[in-house]
Formats: sequence, structure tokens, C-alpha cells
Amino acid sequence: MKEELEAIQTEVLQALKQINTQDQLESLRIEYFGRKGKFTDVMKGMGKLSKEERPILGKLANEVRSSLSDAFETAKTELDCKQQEQQLKAESIDITLPGRKPTLGKAHPVMQVLQRTEEIFMQMGFQVVTGPEVETEHYNFDALNTPPNHPARDLHDTFYLTDGHLLRTHTSPVQIRVMENQQPPVRIIVPGKAYRVDYDVSHTPMFHQVEGLLVDRHVTFSELKGVLVSFARQMFGAQTQMRFRPHFFPFTEPSAEVDISCTVCQGKGCRSCGHTGWIEILGAGAVDPEVFRAVNYDPEQVTGFAFGMGVERIANLQFRIPDIRTFYENDLRFLHQF
Ligand code: DAH
Repeated sequence: MKEELEAIQTEVLQALKQINTQDQLESLRIEYFGRKGKFTDVMKGMGKLSKEERPILGKLANEVRSSLSDAFETAKTELDCKQQEQQLKAESIDITLPGRKPTLGKAHPVMQVLQRTEEIFMQMGFQVVTGPEVETEHYNFDALNTPPNHPARDLHDTFYLTDGHLLRTHTSPVQIRVMENQQPPVRIIVPGKAYRVDYDVSHTPMFHQVEGLLVDRHVTFSELKGVLVSFARQMFGAQTQMRFRPHFFPFTEPSAEVDISCTVCQGKGCRSCGHTGWIEILGAGAVDPEVFRAVNYDPEQVTGFAFGMGVERIANLQFRIPDIRTFYENDLRFLHQF
């Protein structure tokens, strides 16, 4: 019996070394210490022993049981640890993976030019105001001294809506809206969308303009020149030259079309400027007394100047795009370049 107990001890200790799972450990425990286990069987033989042998073997049996019970306990703890380690490894997150950069949007090239234009004029003391894109004939034409038979009213240029409404063909009507609600001095710029029935390499049906208006006592044409030259040099560079060509606009008198020296050839003449050395960027003039009368300003008391420029045109000079329609095709390969 002593040998049997010792054999059990060695066997179990050996077997424990091979154990990999809690299930195997439990089977092993049942194999030896269960109701029909090998250790239990040996203990059943105790009754047959002599009075002398019984306490000696009883003591040995207790020692074997307790040492094996310790061994089982240790094995269980080790398995627990191992299992936890494996679980941690399996569930861990690989934080070394580089993160995904959020894609950042940026201003559309036309907006970039518009914002820069606003900055330059704000710095000269102009206030930025806006107005409605759906206008009445009154604001878009009549109040701007544009009589009903004027070519600008031709159906081919204007998107007419119902009830005398239309999509404004320029930002000039905002001049009227502001003057109706404000006494001089007025010093504003009006960035915004305008619409005309037009579609080719240099025209889109929707485009942007920046209108300017300054009204006060004793405002002169030379102040208009000063403001525009200052704008052009900040926008296109200090070397920029400017020229005023006589022109006609219903709402200004005298009126001018204003050119800058070609930004590509610096005025020498190239394909971009049609070999003239000049590029037209805006229309301007001294506010026509008729316009003042339409808003109840006294033309004997105040004078002023106004100007209007096409933003896509200026963006085009900055970015040199062969076809301005590409601004509005929303092709990201194109837009990402700016
Ligand atoms: N409204 C004109 C256009 O769209 C541009 C313009 C010319 C505006 C002269 C003005 C101006 O304020 O004085 O063609």
C-alpha cells in the first residue's frame, strides 16, 4: 500500500506537468481523487490493515493527499495566469497602426479671391454688405437708371422669373438697397453671386462680383483711382499699372472700364492679353445723379463713385485657367491644385 501511495504521488506530479487546460486538470483530479479514483480506491483498503500499520499509512496517505492538493492548487493558478495572458494578447489593440488623417477641405479658388478682395477693401475702411439674388426689375434696372429699352434688359442676358422678379444680373442693385436705408457717408463693398444667360470659356451662368460704392461730400474721381490702384497693387503686385478707358454705364457718369497691366507679360504683350499688354478687370465711374435721385439723395450735396468687378476673371488672372467653367465642374483633381 505504501508503494501504491508513492506511485500515485509520482504519477500525479508527472501528469500535472503535461496539463494544459482547466478541463484536463479536473479530469486528472477525478481520475485520482474522485469517488472511483485511484487514491480513493487505495484508501478503501485501509480497513484491511493491521492496527500497527494503520496509523503509519494513514499519516502517509494524509501527506500524499495534502501535497498533491497543493500541487493541484499551484497548477490551477498557473493555468489561470496563462489563460489570462493569452486573453490579453488576443484582445489587445495594436496602437502602432498609423491613424487615418481626416481630409481637410479648403476654400474654393473663387472664394479665396473673394476673401482676399474683401480683406483689401475692409482694410481701406469699406464695410461688407450683401443683398438678395432674386431681385425686382426696379432694383436691378430702373433705380440704376437703366430704362426698359436698354440692351442690358434683353431677354438673352437676363434670367427672368415671374411677377417682375429676376435673378440679379449684377451686384449693383445692392447699392440702391443700402442707400435707401442709410444716409451718407456710405462706404461699402458687396460680394455676391450674379446670373446671366451666358456660357463659354470666359462665362458661366452664375458668377461672382464685388460691387463698390462710396458716397460722401466732395468725393472725386481721383479718389476712385486711388482706391482701385491700391486694390490692384495689393492683389496683383506692386508693379501693377492701371489704365482707365472711357466707357458707358447707365448708373455712372463719367464711366470707365479699368485695365491692369497684363499679369503674365507685365505689359509687354502676350497671348493672354491679346498682345495689348492690358487686361480689363472692372467697370467704374462717378455715381450718376439719377441714381442719387432714385434713393432721395441730393446730388447737389453728395457725390460718389462706384465700381464692379468680376471675381472669376480676377481668379483667372491669378490662377491662369484656360476655361473658367472648370471652376464649377466640382472636379476635385482641379480644385485640389489651389
Ligand atoms: N454692374 C456692372 C456690370 O455688371 C459693373 C459696374 C460698372 C458696376 C460700373 C459699377 C460701376 O458699380 O460703377 O457690368
